[in-house]
Amino acid sequence: MRFDIVTIFPEFFGVLDVSLLGKARRDGVLELGVHDLRQWTHDRHRTVDDTPYGGGAGMVMKPEPWGEAFDALLGPDEDAAGMSDAVVVFTTPAGTPFTQSLARELAAERRIVFACGRYEGIDARVVEHVATRARVLEVSLGDYVLNGGEVAAMAMIEAIGRLVPGVVGNPESLVEESHESGLLEHPSYTKPRVWRGLEVPEVLHGGNHAAVAAWRREQALERTRRVRPDLLTGLLPDGDDAERAASRQP
Ligand code: 6GU
Repeated sequence: MRFDIVTIFPEFFGVLDVSLLGKARRDGVLELGVHDLRQWTHDRHRTVDDTPYGGGAGMVMKPEPWGEAFDALLGPDEDAAGMSDAVVVFTTPAGTPFTQSLARELAAERRIVFACGRYEGIDARVVEHVATRARVLEVSLGDYVLNGGEVAAMAMIEAIGRLVPGVVGNPESLVEESHESGLLEHPSYTKPRVWRGLEVPEVLHGGNHAAVAAWRREQALERTRRVRPDLLTGLLPDGDDAERAASRQP
């Protein structure tokens, strides 16, 4: 799988050299291209922004450098109809929320191009134009405002990249996590059995796998109901989970 990133801060993405994703790149499982948007400017000041039509505070990213960036990045793999098989993700707080299910869907793609917006966003015609040449998504990391899309793109790349086969060593560790089941994860413990007077719950010592599984499920439900009750409304009542969670009092 290949990620391309277009940004005015390419140096942000140096962190993708380290940890699991860095290893996946060295192993050839993931490819990463980081592109400085300013290489597609032609004026002495390498201008990427301008004042907004209609007035108001802040600056808007100009369409021309973005147009050239997409010509360069999408051009090589367009089909006869002029459509690229890359997916283009515009990072914006005005986008649809990024979720585990979107991460899973995107992990099956061959190539994703991230367009990192800054200032008050990118001239709206850029999304409109690119949508005629590739599948386009406008995606937000959550309901808060960042100065730009770089940190958001990095978070999305990590969430997507770790789902690509071969990136995480033990694929089983992926299915037992928060959000994969629709619930938050149960608490975890390791040795020592007693630490600063705090004991590991008894059930985890017995070797009773069914009891351990039931306890973890119960803990996951309790934590989800307490911390993220909004997640439970999406659970189907076909298991008894939703019913049990709903009947428990605060
Ligand atoms: Cl994707 N970009 C910016 N600038 N702010 C955000 C965001 C993205 N997601 C949440 N806040």
